[in-house]
Amino acid sequence: MRVSKWVALITLILFSMSIIAGCGGGKDTTGGAETPAGGEEIRIGLIAPLTGDVKTFGESVKNAFEMAMEEADYKVGDFTIKVFVEDDRNVATEAVNVAEKLITQNKVSAIVGSVTSSSTIPISEVAQAHGVVLVTPTATNPKVTVDAARKDYVFRACFIDPFQGTVAARFALDELGAKTAAVLFDQGNDYTIGLKDYFKQSFEAGGGTILAEEAYTKNDTDFSAVLTNIAKQKPDVLFLPDYYQKVSLIGKQARDKGITATFLGGDGWDSPELDFAVMDGGYQTNHYSPDDPRPEVTEWVEKYTAKYGQTPDALGTLAYDATKLVLKAIEDAGSTDPAAIRDAMAKIQGFQAVSGSISFDENGNPIKSAAILQIKDGAQKFVTVVNP
Ligand code: PHE
Repeated sequence: MRVSKWVALITLILFSMSIIAGCGGGKDTTGGAETPAGGEEIRIGLIAPLTGDVKTFGESVKNAFEMAMEEADYKVGDFTIKVFVEDDRNVATEAVNVAEKLITQNKVSAIVGSVTSSSTIPISEVAQAHGVVLVTPTATNPKVTVDAARKDYVFRACFIDPFQGTVAARFALDELGAKTAAVLFDQGNDYTIGLKDYFKQSFEAGGGTILAEEAYTKNDTDFSAVLTNIAKQKPDVLFLPDYYQKVSLIGKQARDKGITATFLGGDGWDSPELDFAVMDGGYQTNHYSPDDPRPEVTEWVEKYTAKYGQTPDALGTLAYDATKLVLKAIEDAGSTDPAAIRDAMAKIQGFQAVSGSISFDENGNPIKSAAILQIKDGAQKFVTVVNP
């Protein structure tokens, strides 16, 4: 009796050690020591721009993804979770490479990612072709979930740009009393092209006039010719639908040219590396405000700040929500089969996410409100919420 008990104990210890050993190394991580023996494994990938021109986006997303996983203790239902984290550098071809790798080599059932629309649109095709669930926390271009047809393995945790562009245009017209606007956009970036188009449509439909619509490319750093021209036209609003680095650069050059227009933009401004001095007085649409008094938000802001020493931005918040959605769908499905997870995801109703209640429409898009924030005195100040 006594001997066999010892044998059992030693076997158990050796078995646990082999599990721990099996988890070490590389970017693959699981809950390791806490993992109960015998549980079946589910593999989940994360794709985000951890380096490159929008790396603060990727950092926030990775922080929040890991936080959601840690809170779940790397377990969901009867499964133990193994995660695989990949950097797409905000380069579309790289996003496709890592998506293929996650699916064919790492055999993930679901992927959270990617962050920008230009990276996420191509990987939505990859996920759909392989039949693997993809949930982007943040990519707002409509083409992510539906192009020629609905990509039914693909979902998102954020609103989409037709809404975001409309909210910005209505705010400019109704709250800022703007009559005229000029727009600069990156002609190679799906997000900025889309947001520009939707803003323009709504601004004109509401009686506003677009005085100038100027394209640039990702590598442009000198906007003086275009801005000299815009300065002469004196628009009320300068709409800048790009990411934080580029809008900070354009904003600076615009002020140097004497442009006094109110700066207006979208979620792409959301970064601690935005040039707050240059963009002061400007307004952006965003997915949430840390000042929102809902208890989900207060609790989230507290725990994220305690762990990472920084107020969570919209990217972290949406990544936390997207990860929780994936976990809920896996739990509801009780399966590692992506088709079952997809079906469970589509059925989610009124999920109380930090960024608001989530139910998907027929295109995998949640219907959610937008926050308007003002850049003021080095911070983003909450202005208002706009419901769909
Ligand atoms: N919506 C942006 C895109 O589609 C990504 C983004 C979301 C950036 C939220 C900042 C905050 O490319």
